[in-house]
Amino acid sequence: MDLCAKNKGKSEKDSGKQVTWCLMFCVSTAVIGSLQFGFNTGVINAPDVKVKNFIRNVTVERTGEPMDESTLTTLWSVTVSIFNVGGMIGSLSVGTLVDKLGRRKSMLLSNILALIGGLLMGLSNMCTSYELIIVGRLVIGAFCGLCTGLTPMYVGEIAPTALRGAFGTLHQLGVVIGILIAQILGLESLLGSQSLWPLLLALTAVPAVLQSVMLIFCPESPRYLLISLNQEDEARQVLIRLRGHSDVEDDIREMKEEAMKMSMEKKVSIPELFRNSAYRQPIIIAIILQLSQQLSGINAVIYYSTEIFRNAGITGPVFATIGVGAVNTLFTVISLFLVERAGRRTLHMIGLAGMAVCTLLMTISLKLVQGTSAISILAILAVFGFVASFEMGPGPIPWFIVAELFAQGPRPAAIAVAGCCNWTASFLVGLLFPKLLKLCDAYVFIIFLILLIIFFVFTYFRVPETKGRTFEDIASGFSNAASSNAANYTSPEGAITMPVSPSSEKVQM
Ligand code: GLC
Repeated sequence: MDLCAKNKGKSEKDSGKQVTWCLMFCVSTAVIGSLQFGFNTGVINAPDVKVKNFIRNVTVERTGEPMDESTLTTLWSVTVSIFNVGGMIGSLSVGTLVDKLGRRKSMLLSNILALIGGLLMGLSNMCTSYELIIVGRLVIGAFCGLCTGLTPMYVGEIAPTALRGAFGTLHQLGVVIGILIAQILGLESLLGSQSLWPLLLALTAVPAVLQSVMLIFCPESPRYLLISLNQEDEARQVLIRLRGHSDVEDDIREMKEEAMKMSMEKKVSIPELFRNSAYRQPIIIAIILQLSQQLSGINAVIYYSTEIFRNAGITGPVFATIGVGAVNTLFTVISLFLVERAGRRTLHMIGLAGMAVCTLLMTISLKLVQGTSAISILAILAVFGFVASFEMGPGPIPWFIVAELFAQGPRPAAIAVAGCCNWTASFLVGLLFPKLLKLCDAYVFIIFLILLIIFFVFTYFRVPETKGRTFEDIASGFSNAASSNAANYTSPEGAITMPVSPSSEKVQM
């Protein structure tokens, strides 16, 4: 059976915005990986008291003595943060995996990790072993690291140019929905109870099976088939199914141009990304954009929002936290509709600026004038505004723009490097934020404010608009800029101007 074979040509063909069932099916399949990343990011927070009790009980059973509180705290932070260590390893392996196996088989294989990780955590209670949770979290982290590279890569490569940003944002939508599902299922009355928490942690195996079955019906990325494997006929067949019409010669021509350029270059390794001047600028942009996502302080707010609300004197802080989840999801949907209109660069800057203003408001409401109900409302609005601004740009854009900034050859290595930077920054924020909060109190947010301003300035001067442009066009913009530095000049908006191509609506970098 081939779900993708049932497409018929439709009216939006000419605008390049046609969405076929086949395309929807493939994107939905890939986005299950994003859901997994979100779910596993959020799942450990709700049952924390129960898991800590479990660790205590296991120790008593083994040694006859209770574990001291500081060892328990250390073990707990290892359990939480080893997920990020796994993420660093997984994201760094993306390049090698996709180069060897292609996009589809890599997604299929990565699900083995989800099954192993889910099984280990699910069996921890039965085997009276908290070590199984720790190893399980590491394995699941590696799986999620792979997901954060594989999903945006596959989606970016199968989406039509005019819709690449909107489809790219679906990755982040999957992430936020995954976080929300974990928060809801983690409620005491559902799976967050004393007896059911192992099931909650093992649940990740279900979407893994679902995605594996769905992947059987998904085609390999046509760009991988043509550019990496030189299988033009197969690539054309896949494109016809994805686009729903047989007129795919523009895509084929663009891919062939890219393939021709690639055949003249040697294989792009990670060190090569930094050595070759044509890749240096885009890789720096990719890394800084990933850092702007994590060092904006988003996860400090996501993880500690209940505590922040409590400190601001809000009654029922848990409900305010659920409100955060809802705002998070709503604004990702809004970004989905804006990203092809406003462009990536503009939305990223609007998001960073909004976050900076809200960070300031958060500090004021938490620190300077604490205690009145007006200030409590200001604190809630500031946190909601912070999360909403994040989802306008810094949430979704860094994940998919890396695939856009690079052509087929360097793309896997670039996605691996950028993903690893994201996971490392997330690890550092998770590790340092509680300590900094103790040290600086609410002034800790001033650090994020300064970083947000730096990232805003960087985006203004260095980040190109990629909306509506082909991969080939974006990549050649960078290599032209690198090879003819003398010809570059600063545009009125302060960004370096790139050569204009017919497909460019606004061409800057
Ligand atoms: C992004 C970040 C992730 C964060 C999430 C919040 O996907 O990568 O770390 O938890 O957004 O919505």
